[in-house]
Amino acid sequence: MQGNFSYYNPTKLYFGDESLNYLKDELKNFGPVVLLNYGGGSVKRNGIYDHVTAILKEAGKTIVENPGVMSNPTLEKLHEGVKIARENNVDFILALGGGSVCDYSKGVAASVFYDGDYWDMFWLNQQNPPVGQKILPVGCILTMAGTGSEMNGGCVITDAEKTFKVGHVFDERLMPKFSILNPKFTMTVPDNQMKAGIYDIMNHIMEQYFSDFDNNTSDYLSEGLMRGLITASRIAVKNPQDYEARSNIMWTATWALNTLIGLGKHQDWMVHMIGHSVGAWTHAPHGYCLAAVSMAYYRRAMQPGLAKFVRFAKNVWDINGDGMTDEQIAEAGLDALKNWMLEIGLPLTISEIGATPDMIPGITEGTICYPAGYMDLKPEDVTEILKESM
Ligand code: NZQ
Ligand code: ZN
Repeated sequence: MQGNFSYYNPTKLYFGDESLNYLKDELKNFGPVVLLNYGGGSVKRNGIYDHVTAILKEAGKTIVENPGVMSNPTLEKLHEGVKIARENNVDFILALGGGSVCDYSKGVAASVFYDGDYWDMFWLNQQNPPVGQKILPVGCILTMAGTGSEMNGGCVITDAEKTFKVGHVFDERLMPKFSILNPKFTMTVPDNQMKAGIYDIMNHIMEQYFSDFDNNTSDYLSEGLMRGLITASRIAVKNPQDYEARSNIMWTATWALNTLIGLGKHQDWMVHMIGHSVGAWTHAPHGYCLAAVSMAYYRRAMQPGLAKFVRFAKNVWDINGDGMTDEQIAEAGLDALKNWMLEIGLPLTISEIGATPDMIPGITEGTICYPAGYMDLKPEDVTEILKESM
């Protein structure tokens, strides 16, 4: 363990099938006008909306509704939310949905009191709100497992006009004040989104795991999380109503990206950089975009990161390795990863999710490149990875 770090995560979590009971008490901590952000209607169809609005009304809150937060929320929708929050003097933002709604709520919360071009400041220039700026508090009722947005400062927004998707990780002021995680709420998530979420979780862990060669506590935690996720995913894909598997997936998602397992590590995140650009062009679920470029990326990273890929093969996939070279062991680990992805039904190519060869220059251009993990990718390498992923 060699890196320097500080650790602070202020989000309070309520987990389990009774966790919504705690909303009433949490609401006492915030002002009377609540901006309720939610997505395209799943929360109305499965009844969660009715439960939540009843609790809000019972607590005497004024509800300002902002429906229609789309998957991969857009800049245009961000502007709309900021306007609604300003016009209604909102005191508190309640996100009711998946990672998109949670991310979006943080974006609105950061921007409402920013006196300037918030898109330029927070996303294009990757700055945090100035010290002393008022920020609306955010609470989150999560309905889908995957992003970890419920316990981090991440906020990914798509500029649809420019076909550019970019995330900013805000400081702890934007982390949700509380998050309610009821695995039962995830039972109605469509099959493709459940699988996309599972791979998003796996890839968050891999992005942090595949960097450095020191003996790092974070890597041991990551290996445990990956093993648990693989086991739970196999059960959930066969029986999506399995509460234990769905709850393990939900809890793993939170720990995969609440900053803990990245501590003391350089981290990678290039699969996410490429995947975000693929998402801006295809509008496919986030986790699918990651899955579709992963094999080409990791096969390329294997040689410079060989020792870690050997460890991945042995400790995550139980590759015995007797009589094999390091390259053979590492390749067997990547084959095991690929077989698991096939087994649970993930796309392994970008053509499966709607990308066409003419998009490759645009996807390359939209990919933010920096030295990361075991490689320092240049745009021409991204183009190669995309071609190999077709
Ligand atoms: O809009 P509704 O009707 O609610 O439907 C949603 C949406 O279509 C549906 N859904 C969610 N919960 C449901 C449900 N349907 C039925 N029952 C439920 N209980 O699922 C669809 C996908 O939801 P979404 O929130 O878009 O998915 P996800 O949680 O994967 O979030 C994706 C967004 O998060 C960003 C992604 O880039 C993407 O924009 N990310 C955020 C991160 C962070 N904050 O740290 C990190 C990630 O790497 C990621 O980039
Ligand atoms: Zn992700």
